[in-house]
Amino acid sequence: MIVLGIESSCDETAAALVRDDGLVLSDVVSSQVALHAPFGGVVPELASRAHLQNIAPVIAEALQVGGLPLSAVDAIAVTNGPGLVGALLVGVQTAKAMAMACNLPLVGVNHLIGHLLSGFLHRPGETHTQPELPFIALLASGGHTALYEVRSASDVEQLGQTRDDAAGEAFDKAAKLLGLGYPGGPRIDRLAALGKPGSVVLPRPLRRKDSLEFSFSGLKTAVAQHVAKHGKPQDEQALADLCASFQEVVVETLVDKALAACEARGVGRLIITGGVAANRGLRARAQQRCRERGIALHVPPPQACTDNAAMIAYAGACRLVRGENDGHALDVFSRSPILGAAPGSVASRRYRSSRLPR
Ligand code: KG4
Ligand code: ZN
Repeated sequence: MIVLGIESSCDETAAALVRDDGLVLSDVVSSQVALHAPFGGVVPELASRAHLQNIAPVIAEALQVGGLPLSAVDAIAVTNGPGLVGALLVGVQTAKAMAMACNLPLVGVNHLIGHLLSGFLHRPGETHTQPELPFIALLASGGHTALYEVRSASDVEQLGQTRDDAAGEAFDKAAKLLGLGYPGGPRIDRLAALGKPGSVVLPRPLRRKDSLEFSFSGLKTAVAQHVAKHGKPQDEQALADLCASFQEVVVETLVDKALAACEARGVGRLIITGGVAANRGLRARAQQRCRERGIALHVPPPQACTDNAAMIAYAGACRLVRGENDGHALDVFSRSPILGAAPGSVASRRYRSSRLPR
C-alpha cells in the first residue's frame, strides 16, 4: 500500500509518499522558518496563509520525486491535530478534497503518534533495523516534551510530560534572550560545542528521580536573570560558555528522565525524536549513558525527527492496515488526548488510536 501523507500542523508544509512497511519514496518539507523569524515565533495566521500557498506545490513535488502518478496512491493520511487549528484545516481540507475526487480512504493522524513512530521510516538503499516493541520514547520538540511507552502503533501510554515549556521552546526562548534569533535550538547547539558546560550555574529542574515530568520555564527565567544581572555576554567565549551551561542542563534533564522511564517500565529500548533530537549534545550524551546502562538507543536521522509528512503517512498506514477509515467526517483538534494528563500526576492516561477525535 502506498500512502500519501500530508502535514500542516505548525510551520512546515509537508507531503510524502510512504509504503506501509515504512519505506519512504518521497519526503518534501517546505519550511516557514524565514517567514516567522522576524517575530521570534510562529504567527498562526501567517502560518495558515503560507500553508494555503504551499500545499498544492508540495504535494505535486512529493508525487514527482516519488515517481508515481496520483492514481498509484492507495490512501491519504493527514495530521488532524494537535496543532494550530487554522494550519491544520488547510491540510485536512486538501486531503478531504483529494480523497473525495480520487475515491480514496482517508485517515487522520495524531501528530505525536507520527513522531513516536518515526523510527520505523527507512529510505531506499539504507540498512535499517526496525525498532523492537515495546520501547520508551522521548519526544522533545518545540511544542511538546514528554515520555511514552510505545507498545504498538495503537497502544501508547504517556508516562510524563512538561508542566510548562517544551524543551525546544526553552532553547528558542533562551536564544531570544541572548539575541541569537529564531529558531534558537540549532544556534545554541553550535555555540555550546565551543563553550565550557557548568561555567554558569543554572538550576536543574524537577530532579526527583520518581517524577517523569519536566519543567523548563525556571531555567529560562534563570537565563533571563543572568542576562539582567551581567548583561548579554559580550565576547564569543562568554556566550559559548552560557550556551554550553544551558544546553547541559536541558540535555542532562532529558536523558535522566528518559533513563528513569526505561527503568520504571523495565524496558531496555529508547527512541529519542522531535526537533530537539537533532541536538548534537543530546545525541552524544544519550549514546554514552545508554551504553553504560545497556539500553539500546535509536535516534532517527534529523529529517525524520523534525516535522515531516513521512511519519504521518506511516502512522496513517498503521491505522489503514487495521481497517480504519475516517472518511469525509474527519475534523481537526488543537489539543491532544495524549497530552491529557493533569499537571502533577506521575503516570497518566492510556491512549488508543480508536479514541482519536474524528
Ligand atoms: O519537531 P520540530 O521540528 O517542530 C515541532 O513540532 O515543534 O521541533 C522544532 C524545535 C524548535 O524549538 C528548535 O529550536 C528545536 O526543535 N531544535 C533544536 C535543534 N534543532 C531544532 N533544539 C536543540 N538543538 C538543535 N540542534
Ligand atoms: Zn512536531
